[in-house]
Amino acid sequence: MKRIVSVVGARPNFMKLAPVQRALEAAGGFEHVVVHTGQHYDRGMSDSFFEDLGIPDPDHNLGVGSGTHAQQTADIMKAIEPVLLAGRPDVLLVYGDVNSTVAAALVAAKLGIRVGHVEAGLRSFDWEMPEEINRVVTDRLSDLLFTPSRDGDENLVREGVAAERIHFVGNVMIDTLARLLREARRRADLAGWEVREREFAVVTLHRPSNVDDPRPLAELIGALGEIGRTRPVVFPVHPRTRRRLEEFDMVPPGDGGLRLVDPVGYLEMLGLVDRAGLVITDSGGLQEETSFLGVPCLTARPNTERPVTVTHGTNELVPTDRAAIVAAAERKFGAVRDGCEIELWDGRAAERIAEVLRGE
Ligand code: UD1
Repeated sequence: MKRIVSVVGARPNFMKLAPVQRALEAAGGFEHVVVHTGQHYDRGMSDSFFEDLGIPDPDHNLGVGSGTHAQQTADIMKAIEPVLLAGRPDVLLVYGDVNSTVAAALVAAKLGIRVGHVEAGLRSFDWEMPEEINRVVTDRLSDLLFTPSRDGDENLVREGVAAERIHFVGNVMIDTLARLLREARRRADLAGWEVREREFAVVTLHRPSNVDDPRPLAELIGALGEIGRTRPVVFPVHPRTRRRLEEFDMVPPGDGGLRLVDPVGYLEMLGLVDRAGLVITDSGGLQEETSFLGVPCLTARPNTERPVTVTHGTNELVPTDRAAIVAAAERKFGAVRDGCEIELWDGRAAERIAEVLRGE
């Protein structure tokens, strides 16, 4: 039996864990322990995802919660060390680029435990993004680098990572989407949302660079209000963004189609995005999901660590500027394509990860 410990903590980790958990179980010969750091803890940010994705309850929940970067990272490190010492896995798997990812990787590396990074090699080259620091440091600490796209391999090779440590496996986020799309479509309730197919936009915003400063946030909310004058705009609001809107006393226009709602679960979100005419976001996952689905996406960021979504998919970067976003939305609305073909975004990435781990 190979012992694998997976560490997850924040919402985008859960969609990446789900297919790996299933692939390890299907492959047999693995003992897989799941540790939830508790970085995200609201039901709508965590438990509902475990339910929608069919992931068993985590074996450990470290309950670290929110804090500054240093507090959160340190709390995760302190809480996870005894778990790894007691369980000594053959490989620790970490996912994506959140604080839980880098914290767990650092602890394992110092204990001499091999680290596997799922979604390795992505680079925005923007050192102001906390996630970029997490990505670079985690990759540096990792022995097995599982990349979702060729650009990931190229970035790692350029940074001097030995080729035999890099495993181009494809995109685990797309494994989950491909598995659950039918169920999301079955459950999708557009009438309940009072929207019509392709005649509404879906929005998510939570990057600190967009929401922690009132100026970009005001531009974004202004743009959404304007877009909402012609079509419904469904905006599930991340807790960070909700807090900032309150702090800045920013009241989004209530007279049009802009609707701020609480975060929604995975299946409900997928059901909405799949039928939307446009997505506006600053999330990493949605750039990929919309590319796969062929739904036009505007990403309110100056750069992306997922360039294939721009070159092969439907994604376009837009500045955080009200007029530019409104103009781009007008141009892209409803420009739905057939789903894109990105190499190895085929629903089988996690199987390839299990295959590599078997040989470890
Ligand atoms: C984190 C990740 C980000 C990821 C995002 C997805 C890092 C550095 N950032 O950002 O890469 O895209 O998750 O959601 O790891 N909060 C709640 N309830 C929760 C979780 C958070 O109310 O369940 C609030 C708290 O006020 C907290 C704030 O949101 O302080 C930010 O949470 P945090 O986990 O620090 O970062 P995110 O912005 O969620």
